[in-house]
Formats: sequence, C-alpha cells, structure tokens
Amino acid sequence: MKKSISIFMLIALVIACKHTILEPGNLNNTGGGNAGVGVSTPTDSICFQAEILPLYQSYCASAGCHNSTSRADGVVLVDYTTIMQGITPGNPENSKYYKNITNSKMPPAGYPQLSSTQIALIQKWITQGALNNTCSTGCDTSKFTYATAVQAIFANNCNGCHGNAPGSGNVYLGTYDASQTYISANTALFLKAINHDATLPVIQRMPQGAKMSDCKIKIITKWINAGMPK
Ligand code: HEC
Repeated sequence: MKKSISIFMLIALVIACKHTILEPGNLNNTGGGNAGVGVSTPTDSICFQAEILPLYQSYCASAGCHNSTSRADGVVLVDYTTIMQGITPGNPENSKYYKNITNSKMPPAGYPQLSSTQIALIQKWITQGALNNTCSTGCDTSKFTYATAVQAIFANNCNGCHGNAPGSGNVYLGTYDASQTYISANTALFLKAINHDATLPVIQRMPQGAKMSDCKIKIITKWINAGMPK
C-alpha cells in the first residue's frame, strides 16, 4: 500500500514538472505551423493581422471577387471590420465566412485553394474569439530559407493570386523554381512591389491591399540577398 502511494506521488511529480518545463517553450510558439513566420507570441494565440488577414486578402479579395470595388455578392473581405460581417466569435460552425471555405464553395473551383493548415488556422482564430490582435513582438529573421520561411509567406500572402500558373499579372509563385526564376529576372521590381514603393502604381504594390508586416518583408529581402537558398 505504502509503495503504491509513493509511486503515485512520483508520477504526479513528473507530470507537474513536465508542465512547468513546457511553459517557456510556448513563448516561441508561432501559433499555427509556419503561418506566423517571424512572429513570436506570448501564447499560442492566432494573430489576426499577421496570420488571418493575409489569407482573406490573398484568397478572397482579388480583383473581380471580394475587394472593395468588385464586392462580389455584396461580400467584401479586406479588413477586420468587413471580415467580421460573416464571423461569429467563438463559433466557427456559425461563421459564414468560415463555412463557405470548408464546404468547398470558396474560393470557387479553378482558383487557388486554401490548404487544410490554413483553414485550421482560421478555425482556431474564431474559436479563440476572433480578436483583432497584432501580436507584433519583435521579428526573428534567423529562419529565412525558402523551406523554413519564404514558402509559407508566399502561400499565405501571395498565392491566392499567384499560386496557379500563369498567376495574376503572369507572376507565378507556386513553386521554388518558378519563384526563383521570376525574382532573379525582376529583382528590383519585386522588391519595390513588396515594399509598396510609392513610385509604383497602386495596383502593382503587393500584396494588393494592406502591405505585409515589416518582419515578413525583412525575411524575404534577406532571402533574396542571400541568393534565395532553398
Ligand atoms: C489579391 C491578389 C494579389 C495578391 C494577394 C498578390 N498579388 Fe501580386 N499581382 C496581382 C495582380 C492582379 C498583378 C498584376 C498587376 C498589374 O496589373 O500590373 C500582380 C502583379 C505582381 C507583380 C508584378 C508587379 C508588376 O509591376 O506588375 C509582382 C512582383 C507580384 N505581383 C508579387 C506579389 C507578391 C510577392 C505577393 C505576396 C506578397 C503578391 N503579389 C500578392 C495580384 C495579387
């Protein structure tokens, strides 16, 4: 009897220790796979500005669809206010702008589709209360290769428009080779576009709509300057 109690206490102690040890690790949690590249958040909370808004902008708000001029079906998905028209905080199943993605209605067939990871991220954001949070706590540029950072940035911020060949404006960023070839041949234009350079017409500032965070721009720039490592 005595022995079994002490084993029980030992197990309890191990569990307690494990819990405390796990805590600090959460400081670097990016809150959803690669989606929050460069973003470090204090918890595993999803950051609307860095992780969710780019998905709606890229996959839903292209010209002819849900940007503020086209307004297809009266739906605009360009910022927190417009996106919240179809989101019920805490309740993804009751959120039209989530349901339409999961029942394969949107984006329409033939357009680049959101991945299961991206859809799961939107679901988690809604479950967490669909906050308009920014989570901008520094920028980690130590991971900047295509595989560890840039691929996810393109997937989340660009490939709703540039993910299927030939891509909007004939710019296809769906693979490493295609991205590398295009950017090598158009480096100056590419950097101007992602920096929303004032010398470019507004329609050529990328992504169309809100500029990416400085952190993502820094990571892409570092990657290009380093010769675009895979
Ligand atoms: C909502 C759709 C959309 C998103 C998101 C988007 N683009 Fe574009 N992109 C376009 C369109 C449309 C054009 C063609 C613009 C034009 O008429 O010249 C274009 C053109 C470009 C060009 C050529 C620039 C030029 O002078 O024409 C580059 C480079 C580019 N995009 C890069 C990106 C990158 C990098 C991202 C992500 C960070 C991105 N785009 C996100 C729609 C988009």
